[in-house]
Amino acid sequence: MLCLGIETSCDETALALIEDGKLLSHKLFSQESKHAVYGGVVPELASREHLRALPFLLDQLLEDSACNLTEVDAVAVARGPGLLGSLLVGMGMAKGLVLSTKAKLIGIDHLLAHLLVCGLERKLIFPALGVLVSGGHTQIYELRSCIEYQVLGRTLDDAVGEAFDKTAKLINLPYPGGKYIDQLARKGQADPKLLPCPYLDNNNLNFSFSGLKTSVANYLSRHEDLKIKNMPIEPNLEIITDNYPGLADFCASFNWSVARTLKVKVKRALQRQKDIKSLILAGGVAANSFIQQTISDLGQELDIPFFVPRKEYCTDNGAMVAYLGYLLLQKGLVHDIKLEAIPRGKPIPWDYSQISPS
Ligand code: KG4
Ligand code: ZN
Repeated sequence: MLCLGIETSCDETALALIEDGKLLSHKLFSQESKHAVYGGVVPELASREHLRALPFLLDQLLEDSACNLTEVDAVAVARGPGLLGSLLVGMGMAKGLVLSTKAKLIGIDHLLAHLLVCGLERKLIFPALGVLVSGGHTQIYELRSCIEYQVLGRTLDDAVGEAFDKTAKLINLPYPGGKYIDQLARKGQADPKLLPCPYLDNNNLNFSFSGLKTSVANYLSRHEDLKIKNMPIEPNLEIITDNYPGLADFCASFNWSVARTLKVKVKRALQRQKDIKSLILAGGVAANSFIQQTISDLGQELDIPFFVPRKEYCTDNGAMVAYLGYLLLQKGLVHDIKLEAIPRGKPIPWDYSQISPS
């Protein structure tokens, strides 16, 4: 069973081919450098870049995996949540491919794809607690299988990745700056009292990171010496650490506050959901070394197996879309050509058609 995955929900154009649950090849074109100086993704630019990159990536993917489009059984495409214009480019390609071959169309929930991609490398254990930390979302899921799940908690304002990127922007690091904060933090020493761990003094599983962002802005306005003078397009972190003493410590403190906040809520969720058998951390921020270690330690402390995708599958990628497509096709869950894209903020509908399982 051959499944092609197409991911264009934000600023990464990505494709992958999975055969019987095994990854044959995957390709990614990152638009990061196109958006870096704007301090965020420019939606119009992102759509245009997806349209430009997709045909080249498809040629490379097919060549690399020695496959022919006529052999593809299903085309899985990220249908949301994401930037509508960007999603539509991927959906347009998926529908075109499906109409010109015998392949089935499968619309993929981008967030669920993030959470399940670890299954490519290690058999998942259900029921699982899924912690999704990305640029647009921060959610805790109870996953009973790859198709049965519920959201137990979510951010009420900024996503964790957004908090990282906005902090990076205040320091004058290019977008998306989360990874630079992570790298600088590794060279510093955290002060646990420097920044707040927001929204913990309650009884729920939701998050709120906007207060942390305000604390960062206030702190940096009192410590202008931590702001990089001219935004470097490709930051050299050795030079930055030497020229801005205290910046690495500040980044380590920021990392610490975020990791601690996540840990408290994830621990609370695990203590409430007594039958959980594994813990999954996923999404772009899962690439953060300190956050990964903190949540992994929590798994160990509570004796729950911990899953995290390898770094290249933490951030947006085609493998996660192709893999969830494969899982859904196995269960005979597909869409027809009327499949609609779902923008950020709207729930993904359960609108599959059931065919005989493959
Ligand atoms: O999952 P993703 O690629 O895209 C969305 O679906 O949003 O996540 C991107 C987010 C960005 O905010 C980026 O700064 C953040 O993940 N990110 C990191 C790291 N690598 C990526 N944040 C903290 N530490 C990292 N190492
Ligand atoms: Zn994502």
